[in-house]
Amino acid sequence: MSTSSHAEPYVPVFVGDTKARLEALATKYPTRQALLLPALWMVQEARGWVSPEGITEVAEQLELTPAYVRGVVSFYTMYHTHPVGRYFIQVCTTSPCNICGAEDVVRALLTHTGCGELGATSPDGKFTVAEAECLGACAFATPVLINDDFIESVTPESVPALLARYT
Ligand code: FES
Repeated sequence: MSTSSHAEPYVPVFVGDTKARLEALATKYPTRQALLLPALWMVQEARGWVSPEGITEVAEQLELTPAYVRGVVSFYTMYHTHPVGRYFIQVCTTSPCNICGAEDVVRALLTHTGCGELGATSPDGKFTVAEAECLGACAFATPVLINDDFIESVTPESVPALLARYT
């Protein structure tokens, strides 16, 4: 995965099928501005993150200013503003989970993925580990979200087997 938005020429996302998907969605929304969140998802789906060039492209597609789009991207934590691993791991470290050992789960994930520190990507480009606020499973500490997979009751001991599912 590229680590710099300037290393290679930007390849537009909204061409071919993706452009057709955007325009099909546009028929269901009252304005093009209302398409902003799904359009950003499409960029993140295609590239793994939303680069400054991706922001400019979305702005052009939706007839918005890049500054407006950037403001929305920076508001929502689910949009990545830098490259992340193929598997983005979020661990709840809010107080109830913290009391139940979430910090140990984070440490195990950082060690076994090779990420080393929160927000960093493993050398093989597979994983990025981040802390998350309450994931809504406080009775099942520690919950972990890996891309769209929600896993409850993760312990430091269960981390190696969990990661082995992601190749
Ligand atoms: S505090 Fe961790 S899921 Fe709610």
